[in-house]
Amino acid sequence: MKTVVITGSARGLGFNMAKIFLTYDYNVVISDLNEDNLINAKKELESINSKGSISYKTCDVSKYDDLQSLMEFAIKEYKIVDIWLNNAGVNQPQEAIWDLNEKDINTLIDVDLKGTIYGSKVAMEQMIKQHKGAIYNIEGYGSNDAHMLGLNLYGTSKRAVTYFTESLAQEADEKNTGVIVGKLSPGIMITKFTTNSMGNNKIELSDKTKKVYNILGDTPETVSKFLVDKMVNNTKNNVKFNWLTNTKAFFRFLTAPFNKNDYFKED
Ligand SMILES: NC(=O)c1ccc[n+]([C@@H]2O[C@H](COP(=O)([O-])OP(=O)(O)OC[C@H]3O[C@@H](n4cnc5c(N)ncnc54)[C@H](O)[C@@H]3O)[C@@H](O)[C@H]2O)c1
Repeated sequence: MKTVVITGSARGLGFNMAKIFLTYDYNVVISDLNEDNLINAKKELESINSKGSISYKTCDVSKYDDLQSLMEFAIKEYKIVDIWLNNAGVNQPQEAIWDLNEKDINTLIDVDLKGTIYGSKVAMEQMIKQHKGAIYNIEGYGSNDAHMLGLNLYGTSKRAVTYFTESLAQEADEKNTGVIVGKLSPGIMITKFTTNSMGNNKIELSDKTKKVYNILGDTPETVSKFLVDKMVNNTKNNVKFNWLTNTKAFFRFLTAPFNKNDYFKED
């Protein structure tokens, strides 16, 4: 039986990917900042019909030791980690860079960029010993060099995650590690990330932004199914699984007059 470890998986994309991995009978290790949230998430995952088992461990991805402990925990439980997903992330306050405080700047870089680098290092060290395994990192706004007021810092981190992941894939190849590395591009998902900065602070989305999100956005359930289906069948290094392709986005705008999505009804 195969095992997947997912950071930041008490909710959102990570949690929904855990659900789909269970339908493939993977053992799933979920991890996040808060233990109560993990306990609740585990309870919900237990309702899924699966031969895989579910374990949880708290892990703050901005702390290297936490990531090492998470890997040690997974190996103790399941002996081998087949897939490691650096998923944890926070959004930024939608302000120009000079209006952000130092704490938020540090947290965003520590979680979104350094967390991915630390997680990839820890996973790579273990997977080299196994001579197999796959590491996936999550792209986001800015990965493709897009720019927008209020997303400079987040975009900087995701642009760097893209560069880092491609370089890691090349290193994995050149060093003949047997490990594969890939990028996941989930498009726009309506999660707490979309409506909150730094995990918990409400973002006031403009009507224009809500309109675009209603056209281009999806639930994390939909996107997770697409991404996990790709990952479980993948044998290639340096891949990118892209949910919201340019063609799909074009088609969504074309059919926007018939689109009935209203993800922000309760706002
Ligand atoms: N929602 C979107 O539109 C979107 C689009 C592109 C990329 N992404 C990326 O997808 C990933 C998941 O986002 P989501 O939409 O599910 O967000 P989310 O806010 O629903 O979930 C993020 C999870 O990460 C956890 N987390 C935050 N800081 C952490 C830390 N220091 N250590 C461990 N866990 C931590 C949170 O507690 C939360 O459970 C992120 O990397 C995000 O950048 C999201």
